[in-house]
Amino acid sequence: MYNSFVTFVKQLYGSQQVPLHAPVFLGNEKKYLNECIDTTFVSSVGKFVDQFEEQLAAFTGAKKVVACVNGTNALFLALKLVGVEKGDEVLTQPLTFVATCNSIAYLGASPVFIDVDIDTMGMSPVSLRKWLFENAIIKDGSCYNKLNGNRIKACLPMHTFGHSVKIDEIKVICDDYNIELVEDAAEALGTLYKGKHVGNFGKVGVISFNGNKILTTGGGGTLMFNDLELAGRAKHLITQAKVAHSIDFAHDEVGYNLRMPNVNAAIGCAQIENINQFLASKRETANLYNEFFQKEGISFFTESENCQSNYWLNVVLMENRAQRDDFLKYTNQNGVMTRPAWVLMNKQPMYIDCMQSNLDNAQWLEDRIVNIPSSVRIKL
Ligand SMILES: Cc1ncc(COP(=O)(O)O)c(C=O)c1O
Repeated sequence: MYNSFVTFVKQLYGSQQVPLHAPVFLGNEKKYLNECIDTTFVSSVGKFVDQFEEQLAAFTGAKKVVACVNGTNALFLALKLVGVEKGDEVLTQPLTFVATCNSIAYLGASPVFIDVDIDTMGMSPVSLRKWLFENAIIKDGSCYNKLNGNRIKACLPMHTFGHSVKIDEIKVICDDYNIELVEDAAEALGTLYKGKHVGNFGKVGVISFNGNKILTTGGGGTLMFNDLELAGRAKHLITQAKVAHSIDFAHDEVGYNLRMPNVNAAIGCAQIENINQFLASKRETANLYNEFFQKEGISFFTESENCQSNYWLNVVLMENRAQRDDFLKYTNQNGVMTRPAWVLMNKQPMYIDCMQSNLDNAQWLEDRIVNIPSSVRIKL
């Protein structure tokens, strides 16, 4: 199978060296970048930031989006906006990119790891409810960890490789326990859950536009809001908390320099013009992979019930860790880039002492997941 897979992928992408995920620039990217240079608006001021935010809001259905320097900082800001403070705990999943946990740590808070579901690869509502039932208590309207007294302020599930978690069920649990819901939708631009774009279920959603994402701005990210007041506060904080309309450089709190520069937004404006083509191409690739792996008797990960995935990074599930490692070695040595899932966050030295639920499903997936080439297959 390994050899036929390598041949199949090289044919699919028409290349002898196939990367995991390369960006494609099909449209107005150069035109808009030239405009930035010609007008000298390359930094935080310029028309493309507002335009990109409006296009993103229209595409995702969020009431307001605020563009930011990258997804990691957008997550940090999102958690800050919902009130996460030093000493708090934030419920998240162990199967995620390290940025999810780092954004919690930047605020002096700690992650608590809740197991994932096998059919979504994201936070399991059943594990979440069980862990809270056994470990949480509500006092004066806030949720606390019974064991250490820490406040459990927020929940940060992640839509893994573009597949949605059961976000509506997670929302109900968060509401029951007075926990703020923030969605790490970094990988999930274009993913719908029950017909609604992910990132719109919690108080804040975050998307990344890093070079390996479905749509790139070089580096970049965004916060999504349905609460306009909170969006206004986000804009204020990422603009060094400068007092609006003041000629003087007056600032009313400690702010940050996290605005997306105009040059990055210019690329985003061009990319989003092609988003529907990108998504269609990725779905077609996923269907072709699915057919191929069905014939080979290998499990290809398809969208779960209620989810319309963006198929950002396609996933195959190997029989066990040994087979996973063999497959990774063979494919990478033969010109087809593949990679394993992240080492679970509960095993990383920074987070090894954090509390956790039973994590059997996450470990099962870590042992089996292989990401296979998934770039958009449209050429100029
Ligand atoms: C799940 C997840 N969260 C957060 C991030 C951080 O985004 P960025 O690289 O834009 O900082 C990424 C991707 O890079 C990611 O995959």
